[in-house]
Amino acid sequence: MSLKDKIDIKNLPQHIAIIMDGNGRWAKMRGKHRVFGHEQGVISVRDTAEAAAEIGVKFLTLYAFSTENWKRPATEVEALMKLLVQTIHQETKTLTDNDIRLKAIGDLDSLDKNCRKELIEAMNTTASNKRMDLVLALSYSGRWELTETFKALANKVRSGILNPDDITQEVISNNLNTAGMPEPELLIRTSGECRISNFLIWQSAYTELYFTSKLWPDFRKEDLYEAIIDYQQRER
Ligand code: IPE
Ligand code: IPE
Ligand code: MG
Repeated sequence: MSLKDKIDIKNLPQHIAIIMDGNGRWAKMRGKHRVFGHEQGVISVRDTAEAAAEIGVKFLTLYAFSTENWKRPATEVEALMKLLVQTIHQETKTLTDNDIRLKAIGDLDSLDKNCRKELIEAMNTTASNKRMDLVLALSYSGRWELTETFKALANKVRSGILNPDDITQEVISNNLNTAGMPEPELLIRTSGECRISNFLIWQSAYTELYFTSKLWPDFRKEDLYEAIIDYQQRER
């Protein structure tokens, strides 16, 4: 019996979020440049997205680049952006073949023109796909998102279309980048680090956390199944 058969399909998390960490260490262990680890990480993204869609997960949110990641050496940032453009370009057809819709959250205006263009094209091409939403968090951080949301709400108050007394948790949720998405029931982080690193901080108030020492480039379908089985054994 494979791990997949142990998953209770009726009790699947609708939304899984992943902090894909450990690419640099994976490459370093092999005497390679960090970028090699990021390249290998793309294979894990493909495998994990396919597995999630196959079993019936509705939303998969991947932390691909944080607001803080801009502080990395320029060569690494450039390589990551190039890899992102390349991957989106190459994978759009596979996404459509698998009926997966591509979405993005984060400060997309901070991405370079070419990257934004590729991303918007892929989002438009896949817009009517229905099996699963694959959400890339790009130049994203939870505090950035909350700050933007508070600014937007303050502007609505200033222009008289929102009464401060009407600001509820629901109103805040509906003004986040993730508006319309359910909160993640399961958040996975690879590489043995046990932090949230400014990921979906509002949305993960009640999320089950799952940490694995596997480095992201080693993460495969079976690892996703293992995380889901662990989640299903918890009391909620
Ligand atoms: C995660 O791997 C990928 C990104 C943050 C873009 P890292 O690059 O953080 O790899 P480690 O944590 O240094 O091993
Ligand atoms: C979190 O990983 C961000 C992404 C996976 C994109 P980092 O490696 O950047 O986080 P820290 O620095 O260890 O907290
Ligand atoms: Mg890291």
